[in-house]
Amino acid sequence: MFDKLKEQPADKILMLMEMFKADERSAKIDLGVGVYKNPEGVTPVMRAVKAAEKRILETQETKAYTGLAGDPAYADAMISLVLGTAVARDDVAAVATPGGTGAVRQAFELIRMATPGARVFVSDPTWPNHLTILSYLGMEAVPYRYFDSTSGGVDFDGMMEDLKGLKPGDVVLLHGCCHNPTGANLTQPEWKTVIARLNEAGAVPMIDIAYQGFGDGLDADAAGVRLVASSVPECLIAASCSKNFGIYRERTGLLMAVSSGSQKVAQGNLAYLNRQNYSFPPDHGARVVTEILTDSTLRADWQSELEDVRKNMLGLREQLASELQRLSGSNRFGFLAQHRGMFSRLGATPEQVARLRQDHGIYMVGDSRMNIAGLNARTVPILAKAIVDSGI
Ligand code: LMR
Repeated sequence: MFDKLKEQPADKILMLMEMFKADERSAKIDLGVGVYKNPEGVTPVMRAVKAAEKRILETQETKAYTGLAGDPAYADAMISLVLGTAVARDDVAAVATPGGTGAVRQAFELIRMATPGARVFVSDPTWPNHLTILSYLGMEAVPYRYFDSTSGGVDFDGMMEDLKGLKPGDVVLLHGCCHNPTGANLTQPEWKTVIARLNEAGAVPMIDIAYQGFGDGLDADAAGVRLVASSVPECLIAASCSKNFGIYRERTGLLMAVSSGSQKVAQGNLAYLNRQNYSFPPDHGARVVTEILTDSTLRADWQSELEDVRKNMLGLREQLASELQRLSGSNRFGFLAQHRGMFSRLGATPEQVARLRQDHGIYMVGDSRMNIAGLNARTVPILAKAIVDSGI
């Protein structure tokens, strides 16, 4: 049987992780996978996470199953973190999922169950796994223009032009904040224009929000999501706790389906999908997140550490943009300081990206996506010089 299997194409991001590990040069710099590193190059366990884990260890009396949707307290806490008061709690069906990827996968499956022929419009570019999951599920992905590589900003005219092709029942996948891989984000007026187009077409938004708190702050980063949820009849939201709680390997996500009227049937279908795919979602990370969000001291400490992380990334962006301006004598990299989140697309060719890796030991994804959080004050000047020396 197994000899009938075909080799699968390597995941570009994960392949880079392996290549980096195998590189023996000590001065190598990893700007590949989206993992935050502090100035010492460590991905730390956040203080509030440690404290919450300690409490759970001491007080947890059972590891019996939760429910198919996960612990309801986790859903309540996360819905409030992501949606604030934008919609009534009763309008939200939600299930815990293994990470944000699990939420994305379940969302696509729910779409396919409800509307078997639904097309999913995806930004060009988008996180590569969006495309591979859609293809794996046999669903049609339709790209819409998103990134203007000349300005480094959003090609909003192109995006709106492409969204003219929407038909009722189509789904539009949007990044809630900190667009992966470009770092270029919609403004509030642009969100409003997109919402108007979705409502006019009868299309359903699906929002992937994996970096809340990494861009302009917890509430500012959720502003687009909240606007959508309060302005459309139905939407799906896939949230991840991997980055903002730093619990990558705990696989902690939440899928929300917002509607007024279909909440009950949506909840039943989401639980059914969990049951078919893995029965009960992982609980440890969810419990840690709930403990933090529902305890004012832990929550304040988590928010303050998250703010430090966010400001550190912003500082690195500014340092890199100004170093590049100094070395190149031009402001063509100014967009790096405007972008938000972990990623920016530099605008280098695949050959230039390969040269950065071979000649300088600097690893970024082939489309020139770089993880800003993989830098520190010492490595920024090294990267800037390598960029300019490589003729980018
Ligand atoms: C990334 O884009 O680097 C992260 O979301 C990690 C992943 O799973 O790809």
